[in-house]
Amino acid sequence: MEKYVFSMVAFLLVLALMATLFSPSDAVFKGAFEENFSKSCPGTHFKTSQDGQIWYLTLDQVSDCGFMTKQSYRFGWFSTKLKLVGGDSAGVVTAFYMCSEVEAGPLRDEIDFEFLGNRTGQPYLIQTNVYNNGSGGREMRHQLWFDPTLDFHTYSILWNSHNIVFFVDKVPIRIYKNANHTNNFFPAQRPMYVFSSIWNADNWATRGGLDKINWKNAPFVASYKDFTIDACTWKNPYPACASTTTQHWWDQYSAWHLSSKQKTDYAWVQRNFVVYNYCQDTVRNRYKPQECWLNPLD
Ligand SMILES: *[C@@H]1O[C@H](CO)[C@@H](O)[C@H](O)[C@H]1NC(C)=O
Ligand SMILES: *[C@@H]1O[C@H](CO)[C@@H](O)[C@H](O)[C@H]1NC(C)=O
Ligand SMILES: *[C@@H]1O[C@H](CO)[C@@H](O)[C@H](O)[C@H]1NC(C)=O
Ligand SMILES: *[C@@H]1O[C@H](CO)[C@@H](O)[C@H](O)[C@H]1NC(C)=O
Repeated sequence: MEKYVFSMVAFLLVLALMATLFSPSDAVFKGAFEENFSKSCPGTHFKTSQDGQIWYLTLDQVSDCGFMTKQSYRFGWFSTKLKLVGGDSAGVVTAFYMCSEVEAGPLRDEIDFEFLGNRTGQPYLIQTNVYNNGSGGREMRHQLWFDPTLDFHTYSILWNSHNIVFFVDKVPIRIYKNANHTNNFFPAQRPMYVFSSIWNADNWATRGGLDKINWKNAPFVASYKDFTIDACTWKNPYPACASTTTQHWWDQYSAWHLSSKQKTDYAWVQRNFVVYNYCQDTVRNRYKPQECWLNPLD
């Protein structure tokens, strides 16, 4: 067993080495917070475990908290393990997202995972959204098949020129397709920073804003670990991250289409856990948005 683990580790090291040798613009990041992230909250609201591996973000009445990458990226794999606020977390939103701008500008591109807190015992919802050039409104909401407050689970975004896939513990829960390169719904041109944050969203998040934060339960703490970014680090000029010039793993057939196992998992999620899909919201969208006609399994 130990031997097996050792050879696996050796194998992975060789793979990692090959990856760095053959694609110099790839960035695989593990750990070092100060080097790769900047935080936007007081030190009291951002703590790490003693070994620096777990990052705790706090929300209370004094402040919310967030952090973002110093670099921006165009295409790749963006992932973190996250343990959400337990107990009564109604009105609290924890997020893991990507955005082309540091401030939420009117023409931004964005890819969002938002975790909507709830009253004790009531289910968290995951809300995902995609913005292109400032237009969003593409929410989907899912329930989870586990309690996300009890342990760390992995939430990941795969982003390339063909699709954006949202994963929960390696299960694809949402696929957002690109039709071609001339549509106006797929964010593909601009690099994005990666962000995480916890904030007060009790004006909309839980039961549409009916459930307010109960500040008696503050501080609210979300825990992050194993941040992984395996992506093309943006450098000007633009062709540095163009998919035609390099052969990144995320720019290949297997990252443009689900495997058959992933298709089965995806279908299981669609059957059991989707609670809202903007594509089916005929009140909000009188005409079905263009991207909603695309087959996610193509
Ligand atoms: C983390 O920062 C170092 C030093 O600036 C940089 O070389 C590396 O590419 C960064 N990693 C990522 C994933 O951006
Ligand atoms: C974004 O929208 C603005 C204003 O509508 C437009 O001028 C610009 O060309 C658009 N940019 C992209 C990349 O679509
Ligand atoms: C590409 O997308 C645009 C906008 O969605 C659409 O008008 C056009 O017909 C599409 N072209 C092809 C070849 O699919
Ligand atoms: C919170 O719990 C209520 C009651 O079970 C449920 O209707 C709602 O969808 C849950 N989540 C949110 C974010 O409101």
